[in-house]
Amino acid sequence: MPEERFVTPVNLPGEDPMEHILRPTILKEFIGQARLKDNLGLYIEAARKRHEALDHVLLSGAPGLGKTTLARIIANELGAEFHQTSGPALQRAGDLVGLLSRLNEFDILFIDEIHRLNPTLEEYLYTAMEDYMVDVVIDQGPAARSIRLTLKPFTLIGATTREGLLGPPFRGRFGIPEKLDYYPVGELKEIALRSAGILEARIEDEAAGEIAKRSRGTPRLVNRILRRVRDVATVQGTDSIDLEVARDGLKRLGIDEMGLDALDRRILGVLTADPDHPVGIKTIAAMVGEEERTIEEVYEPYLLQQGLLLKTARGRIPTPMAYLAAGKQPPDCTPGLFAPEQ
Ligand SMILES: Nc1ncnc2c1ncn2[C@@H]1O[C@H](COP(=O)(O)OP(=O)(O)O)[C@@H](O)[C@H]1O
Ligand SMILES: [Mg+2]
Repeated sequence: MPEERFVTPVNLPGEDPMEHILRPTILKEFIGQARLKDNLGLYIEAARKRHEALDHVLLSGAPGLGKTTLARIIANELGAEFHQTSGPALQRAGDLVGLLSRLNEFDILFIDEIHRLNPTLEEYLYTAMEDYMVDVVIDQGPAARSIRLTLKPFTLIGATTREGLLGPPFRGRFGIPEKLDYYPVGELKEIALRSAGILEARIEDEAAGEIAKRSRGTPRLVNRILRRVRDVATVQGTDSIDLEVARDGLKRLGIDEMGLDALDRRILGVLTADPDHPVGIKTIAAMVGEEERTIEEVYEPYLLQQGLLLKTARGRIPTPMAYLAAGKQPPDCTPGLFAPEQ
């Protein structure tokens, strides 16, 4: 069992109720992602005006960036019923067909981690998405026959951390594909201030900025760090979270200036061990004791985004910055290498 990391952008056990409280419920409260919000707002309004089901939506992006939140907001803004399931939870065709046939007109079916959906179920979704119908085979042997079920017009919202794993025919059936990016510090700071307000915690501007800077571009981490930092303030008896309290809290969590923690530094340590050899994902996973999939879906995207590593056909290679983050000297900066020309 890999150790549990505080900075994992994935939901931790017991975190749900708090996430729920901090979740924006309307588009206007959703901070940042301006272009995406603008687009969605327009499509929602159009669907409402025409009294049609909203086109199917695919939300892709790293964990903790707001996919589930947005899916709920869409349902809310449409005044539609929200039904939630996930790719791994849907095992049998009967489960999916049952779910689909129970949907009412314009309902939202949210399938989280849709890239992990059983491929045979994907086929059912194709006709459901395109023509609001599914063909089900009933009985077995010579009596087997297929009947066509007509569905009510509905909207499928798929969320994925790995858009690349969806086959092009499947991806193509989503009329509204939207990608969520990591958030800039300014927006994360706004999220910190908003959440502090909801939690009735007083926080100084600088402290909110510090939390934002070290949250890996991820709103879920902003909220999680904020709550831990608030604990520090409570224990220290300070009535407001100031910069010192925030830094103290972050230090206790082992989060550095870039938002990296011990495991990130270990990954970077593996990558920078031998500058001449790119490292494969299997090696990294084995060396740091974490699952390949978790490293690829959860940790690596941030390291890539921060320009700490590059993916090449031969494997991962560290950038000069990765050496600095791992506390090493980048090979290119070895003294003497850039000696002035004679
Ligand atoms: N744009 C945002 N503005 C404010 N809070 C956000 C935003 N995006 C995400 N959050 C908060 O971050 C947490 C994680 O978001 P969630 O939608 O569960 O992420 P995902 O489904 O992409 O993993 C939620 O508690 C939510 O309130
Ligand atoms: Mg989610």
